[in-house]
Amino acid sequence: MYVLLVLVGALSLCNAFPNGAPKAACVNMTPHHIYFNLTRVQAQTTPSPYSVTVASNLYTAGGTVKVQIVGPQFEGFLLQARHNGNTGPVGSFSNPPTNTKAVTCTSGSDSMTHANPNAKQNITLTWTAPTDARADVMFIATVAQVKNVFWLNNKSPMVTLAQGHQKEGNHV
Ligand SMILES: *[C@@H]1O[C@H](CO)[C@@H](O)[C@H](O)[C@H]1NC(C)=O
Ligand SMILES: *[C@@H]1O[C@H](CO)[C@@H](O)[C@H](O)[C@H]1NC(C)=O
Repeated sequence: MYVLLVLVGALSLCNAFPNGAPKAACVNMTPHHIYFNLTRVQAQTTPSPYSVTVASNLYTAGGTVKVQIVGPQFEGFLLQARHNGNTGPVGSFSNPPTNTKAVTCTSGSDSMTHANPNAKQNITLTWTAPTDARADVMFIATVAQVKNVFWLNNKSPMVTLAQGHQKEGNHV
């Protein structure tokens, strides 16, 4: 039950109720809003007014990267770090800014989302790389300006794993 509630939280961009498998939203990052006439709300096809920026184009295993969603005020979002071409999140988030929270798609706090529909702008998120990091990542976000108006695939530039700085694994 706990896991279900957390996944529903990740799905509920702008307080709409999800429809469909919670895991699917973790992969497709789509809110699955439904209009009263039962057609599905589609993502915007215009160029996104949002960009996802990173404070560094390099990261180290176990290190942190600051990630910002830049653009006009918005209500909802879902953001993850991913390896290029993969659909699973990598690493974890901490220190959620006001009106946001970390949620779990596959393992602890691997995704960030809104905690309420209050206006947010230019929020900065804190990502920690896995200690066994092995490949470059990018940050990808769905951003809902208001309910039913959202853009998928807002991507950061690639963040490269710094070579020669990987930490040794823990020998417990
Ligand atoms: C369903 O409702 C939405 C929002 O009012 C509208 O944009 C859309 O065209 C409607 N679709 C159909 C098939 O009536
Ligand atoms: C958000 O960032 C944009 C682009 O850097 C800037 O123009 C805008 O003033 C910022 N707004 C706030 C509220 O920080």
